[in-house]
Amino acid sequence: MKIIPILYGLATLAWGAGALPAAELPHLKKTTAGAQLIVNGQPFLILGGELHNSSASSLEYLEPVWPRLKAQNLNTVLATVSWELLEPEEGRFDFTLVDGLLAGARRQDLKLVLLWFGSWKNGVSTYVPGWVKKDTARFPRVCNQHGDKAEVLSAFSQANLDADRKAFAALMRHLRETDQKEQTVLMVQVENEAGLLGQPRDLAPEAVKAFQREAPAELVRYFSAHQQQLIPEFKKYWSEASGQTNGTWNAVFGEGGEEAFMAWHLARYIGQVAAAGKAEYALPMFANAWLIQHETQKAGQYPSGGPVSKVQDIWRAAAPAIDLLAPDIYRRDFKEVCSSYTRFGNPLFIPECSPGADAVAKAFYAFGQHQALGFCPFGIESMPEDRPLKEGYALLRALAPEISRHPDPGALLGIYQQDGEDRQNLQLGGYNLEITFKPGGKKELPGYGLAIASGADEFLVAGAGLAIHFSTSKPGPKYTRILAIDEGWFVNGAWKPGRRLNGDENAGGWRLQIPYGKPALQRVRLYRHD
Ligand code: DGJ
Repeated sequence: MKIIPILYGLATLAWGAGALPAAELPHLKKTTAGAQLIVNGQPFLILGGELHNSSASSLEYLEPVWPRLKAQNLNTVLATVSWELLEPEEGRFDFTLVDGLLAGARRQDLKLVLLWFGSWKNGVSTYVPGWVKKDTARFPRVCNQHGDKAEVLSAFSQANLDADRKAFAALMRHLRETDQKEQTVLMVQVENEAGLLGQPRDLAPEAVKAFQREAPAELVRYFSAHQQQLIPEFKKYWSEASGQTNGTWNAVFGEGGEEAFMAWHLARYIGQVAAAGKAEYALPMFANAWLIQHETQKAGQYPSGGPVSKVQDIWRAAAPAIDLLAPDIYRRDFKEVCSSYTRFGNPLFIPECSPGADAVAKAFYAFGQHQALGFCPFGIESMPEDRPLKEGYALLRALAPEISRHPDPGALLGIYQQDGEDRQNLQLGGYNLEITFKPGGKKELPGYGLAIASGADEFLVAGAGLAIHFSTSKPGPKYTRILAIDEGWFVNGAWKPGRRLNGDENAGGWRLQIPYGKPALQRVRLYRHD
């Protein structure tokens, strides 16, 4: 058994040779808002969509899908690589599907984010190879209080970890060998919605022993060192346990002890899988979360230990190779979820989102409000082609250089009429933006958009179903008026104006307005006088 890690280490050294420097690979560049994804030296916004779980298991199935995704104006596809199909026999790797994904995406000039369905997918282990599934003695399972084994690998097993990270490292090595030049793959998700369902913690024998030990000093040190920057929902458990610096999990984290324990061990495991992959090919890596669906849910009713918003600190401390934690958003309170995943520098990336007609509105909000790295409705190949996401992605693509030019919060704003509100008052570039969502037309979709303070007294506004009246309380002349509004588009980064919008189209000089329907872009210039 000892031989596996040693061989594994040697293999890493051998394969590690020949990689481009990290700065020349897709990488994350830190900004005040979080980060930008840099691809070939330029910021890149992922206008994405995630395939259904089984789609990437058949290249034939995907053949007609690629051009449809391209026609929907996506620039990136999120696709599964499953352990069972990558390593059908121990030590024999089959890269046919991975190569087919690379080829299919490249033919359409699309990028990929690969999703590693390894030890866990939605809290269970159905994507592990048959040779892992069948050998429960070598690859231990999660147990309940009666000793019953679940179809879930235990995170408390070195053999499970070694087998998973060996396969993941082989995948990343293959990507380095076959994709480092083209850089079709931009990021990798490590596992999928990990966490334990049905019980707050694993009760397999090794897990029980681990729970009896003290909470790791490293984790407690992290909490002590980051006291001013801890997620309050979890800090509360630590504080209620009097900020203890040593003791059992329950002593240190009180009511949150069992969840903290699972989060630490899952994140350690997944972080080590990610680190082994990065040693081969250092792409940005993330872990995605099955979110808590409502406040009354307890750990185990949602996957316990998974990267839900409140345990972000534990994940950060345990898994430094994971660059960001990403919410899969199927909840109605989209804005609140986005905010909860942008605390203390976590960059927002939304690998899954409900694929409804309002997905376009959420995309504009995420890029405008949080400078998101990317946005991806789930089950993208089933999305009806007449959904406004297609037009929205075309506009966001044209606008991407403008969005990326302003990496700091304060120059951009996201607008999304969540839950049917009629109006919003927002501030941008020293102006008050009084936004109304009923400028006329029938209400099929929420109003949405993004606004950029593109110059002194100048804004770019993109979206649909909204109107904006501008005013300011800045010192200076009393009245704020519209100097001119132009609709337009960016072509290769250059502004191409269309109609000059006046009269009925700006309510007699009173407001900027973009009707419901096809999203549009307008540039408004303001002036002030006494
Ligand atoms: C969330 C999972 O992460 C996806 O793989 C998929 O199963 C969706 N749920 C289905 O809605």
